[in-house]
Amino acid sequence: NWTTGNVIEEQVAAIREQVGDRRAICGLSGGVDSAVAAALVQKAIGSQLTCVYVDHGLMRKGETEQVEKDFVAATGVQLKVVDAEERFLKALAGVSDPEEKRKIIGREFIRVFEQAQAEIIADEGPAVEFLVQGTLYPDVVESGGGTGTANIKSHHNVGGLPEDLEFQLIEPLRKLFKDEVRMVGQELGLPEEIVQRQPFPGPGLGIRIVGEVTKERLDLLREADAIAREELTAAGLDRDIWQCPVVLLADVRSVGVQGDGRTYGHPIVLRPVSSEDAMTADWSRLPYEVLARISTRITNEVKDVNRVVLDVTSKPPGTIEWE
Ligand code: XMP
Repeated sequence: NWTTGNVIEEQVAAIREQVGDRRAICGLSGGVDSAVAAALVQKAIGSQLTCVYVDHGLMRKGETEQVEKDFVAATGVQLKVVDAEERFLKALAGVSDPEEKRKIIGREFIRVFEQAQAEIIADEGPAVEFLVQGTLYPDVVESGGGTGTANIKSHHNVGGLPEDLEFQLIEPLRKLFKDEVRMVGQELGLPEEIVQRQPFPGPGLGIRIVGEVTKERLDLLREADAIAREELTAAGLDRDIWQCPVVLLADVRSVGVQGDGRTYGHPIVLRPVSSEDAMTADWSRLPYEVLARISTRITNEVKDVNRVVLDVTSKPPGTIEWE
């Protein structure tokens, strides 16, 4: 007899039993799964859990604050936020190739995360032996099953971590589907903005700038993205679309006329899609009035953007993200 209350009760008891008086850590991505997993483990073991959030500077407007304030307020979790913006921007300087960007972001992310982990482990207190992961049932099936007893070995390349340190995994969501995870999150009191969040890629806005990633371009894209999100939410369309990447074509310029003069600015691409599982997708037929409002606001409010274009490509042949 499945209820969210039962799931929470069962998991809390199991986690308490598993962890005892030792400690656990959990990486937060800003996404639904890691947030709900962390909240559940927090409910079970309280201050024996420490969460780590790596701010790579590629998040959207307000996202880091949402984790820092709203998530902490809702759960009371102990959170270590690592401000790594400078480090990521430096590593990405001069890089335009999409795969190269992804590799750099992934590599830096692991380094920063492991360093934070090492610092937590080095703290006074009982040993940290558990790593919380927001693995869902579909993830378990896709990777060919598993028994839930897997130990993962931490990477060796980071100073401060013992070579043979192993974490036991805590995966409280591994029997659940996404909609069930959302219900559990809601029951745990997580804010709607976290629980109902649409997918957002780990490399963040870094793969939504076609061209080199710079702080200035990120700020510009953050503004455009915030406007698009605001208008889609105001129009009540959040549940109708799967997600809507907003992309800055930083390497493209076109001529425009704004105010009394000629401009030579960048286009912003809107990429609203409908999908069941992101494997295939169709472009969303958004109402023209909503598109018009987004276009007008972005070109009026965002510096250096003088054109807004709509991506009308399905997946396949296009992927959802541009890079
Ligand atoms: P594509 O662009 O491959 O995207 O059609 C499919 C879905 O995956 C998301 N995406 C990612 N998510 N890390 C993630 O966590 C990534 O590197 C990544 N790349 C794409 C994308 O937003 C879409 O929902």
